[in-house]
Amino acid sequence: MKIPFHITNTEEYNRCYTESVQNPDNFWNEIASNFLWRNKWSTVLDYNFESARFNWFVNGKLNITENCIDRHLLTNSEDIAIIWEPNFENEASHFITYRELHQRVIKFALVLKNNGIQKGDRVCINMGMIPELAIAILACARIGAIHSVIFGGFSSKSIADRLVDADAKMIICCDGAFRGKKIIPIKSIIDDALKLYSKNISVIVYQRTKTKINFNPSIDKWWHEEMNKINELTDPLVILDSDDPLFILYTSGSTGKPKGVVHSCGGYMVYTAYSFVNAFQYHKGMVHFCTADIGWITGHSYIVYGPLLCGATSIIYEGIPTWPKSDRFWKIIDKHKVNIFYTAPTAIRSLMSYGLAQFENSKLNSLKVIGSVGEPINEEAWHWYYDNVGKKNCPLIDTWWQTETGGILISDLAGITKSPPSIAGKPLPGIQPVLVNEDGNEIVDYGTQGKLCIKFPWPSIIFTTYRNHDRCIETYFKPFTGKYYTGDGAYLTKYGNYRIIGRVDDVLNISGHRIGTAEVENAINSHPEVLESAIVGYPHPVKGEAICAFVIIEHQSNYTQMLRNEIENCVSMQIGSFAKPDRILQVPGLPKTRSGKIMRRILRKIASGDTNNLGDLTSLLDSSIVDKIIELNNSDQINNFEKF
Ligand code: PRX
Repeated sequence: MKIPFHITNTEEYNRCYTESVQNPDNFWNEIASNFLWRNKWSTVLDYNFESARFNWFVNGKLNITENCIDRHLLTNSEDIAIIWEPNFENEASHFITYRELHQRVIKFALVLKNNGIQKGDRVCINMGMIPELAIAILACARIGAIHSVIFGGFSSKSIADRLVDADAKMIICCDGAFRGKKIIPIKSIIDDALKLYSKNISVIVYQRTKTKINFNPSIDKWWHEEMNKINELTDPLVILDSDDPLFILYTSGSTGKPKGVVHSCGGYMVYTAYSFVNAFQYHKGMVHFCTADIGWITGHSYIVYGPLLCGATSIIYEGIPTWPKSDRFWKIIDKHKVNIFYTAPTAIRSLMSYGLAQFENSKLNSLKVIGSVGEPINEEAWHWYYDNVGKKNCPLIDTWWQTETGGILISDLAGITKSPPSIAGKPLPGIQPVLVNEDGNEIVDYGTQGKLCIKFPWPSIIFTTYRNHDRCIETYFKPFTGKYYTGDGAYLTKYGNYRIIGRVDDVLNISGHRIGTAEVENAINSHPEVLESAIVGYPHPVKGEAICAFVIIEHQSNYTQMLRNEIENCVSMQIGSFAKPDRILQVPGLPKTRSGKIMRRILRKIASGDTNNLGDLTSLLDSSIVDKIIELNNSDQINNFEKF
């Protein structure tokens, strides 16, 4: 059967899905043939779940940037690749054509080369949402350097941890980043991070905010000066193996140390483009606006790679949804005639609180598809989004996926398959989800919650965790033999759609940001007064989930607002302020099993105010501690210190 790259109706979806399961090699062979390869693969897929080895398009040779840029030049060179919408409404938008993007990427790739960067070197990137961030990413990919973008909200310590783990040779940053009214002093945060990094490194600084910075000429270079040194645009393109690493992106897991998720070139390319076209039903000429930060996987896959691979126009927005007013997204949609709008439930919920007046001056009539990502979207937010943004006229796709999956795995195909509010939907072709119980047995009945696994590889499956492949095996492939374990809980509806419940491991999802409980606990425990702590998430009307910290203080009488601030500061300094607890409760002890394991289930219930049914407490070493914590939770201490 001929496999269409772009699925246009339900029947085609069913046919493609069946073929992808029954004959995956044939299916992906056909899909991958839609790209520009310098050498065709000899084998579509060679894999082994136990050793977490997934080789896609073996012996295939390519450069993803040729697919993102060069192959559009013949016929579409004057199409707009990137629209940049600055933080300030009165600053002009920038329009970058595919032809200009080509030149700027090559030029910056030459800058990288001039500064000693070669294939395989790790380049960390920490910038605001400016086009140069996408250019830096693509320039790395052009010469086979491995980019590792670090979200702008991380602290110096977190940046240093990532530099060390990646053994970075260069960091590309900017002087500062505009975010609404604020300027984030990126370069000075980097300077502090570099105090914790002993290796030789060079720093390229893009000037955006004109913030005064410390400039150390022995390692710091200005972006514009380096670009001015390039006189001849001799393309430094490096042809890579399908399996060569494209990027590292750090993400939180259940242990204290973030993992460097690695994606490889060929598989990631094929799947991001395939999922982009089909989930969003992208057609040539459409303008796509994904509001995520490029520092997270959503930005990698659906601001930079997915849209550019398909020749789309992708918007990069520098600012925040609510500044100068809550109508900023809507103005951008009207101004640039956006067709696809992709955002997170937390942004929707925060905008909901501003009322409907925000829509008074916008039409939103260019929109064709709206999407949601990052956390479960509750029904109220779903309806508000569907009614007021989509004007009941645009399919709303709830897309489920992860940093490790590279692209969207479960979602409706906009306007083709349709799920009710808050149900993510069906798997995309090539994706074989399965729900398992604690024993690893498959759950086949509808409505029963299980752990979500995927039982067959897809092209953008995690390639490895950087310099620690065992961790990749342990985390994702050991828990359930022969399957990739997602860490999420889900159930299946009787129509074959997946309802994602959220994480069932020790990972929190705060405003769509993934944070490991152990990371926050480590940061809190670093305060000399803190003996022990336990972090749990509890429902929050805007963030989806918020953090409650239960802490044991050495000298109990010392618990003051100042100490509380210091504890918060430990989290801001070691992770970033987005991970600060919303509530800190001083407790005399924690509910532990006889083997010393903290029973977070109980703490979660207490933090959510749901103390009527705490379940079985018999395995606790000292069950009286539970009553004491409940009492403290209800007492003045928390009310005095609580701040929403
Ligand atoms: O718990 C799931 C949640 O976000 C987690 C992945 O986080 P991250 O790697 O940071 O990637 C976020 C963007 C893809 C998942 O394990 N999640 C993501 N999308 C959804 C979701 N939960 C429910 N519904 C979704 N649509």
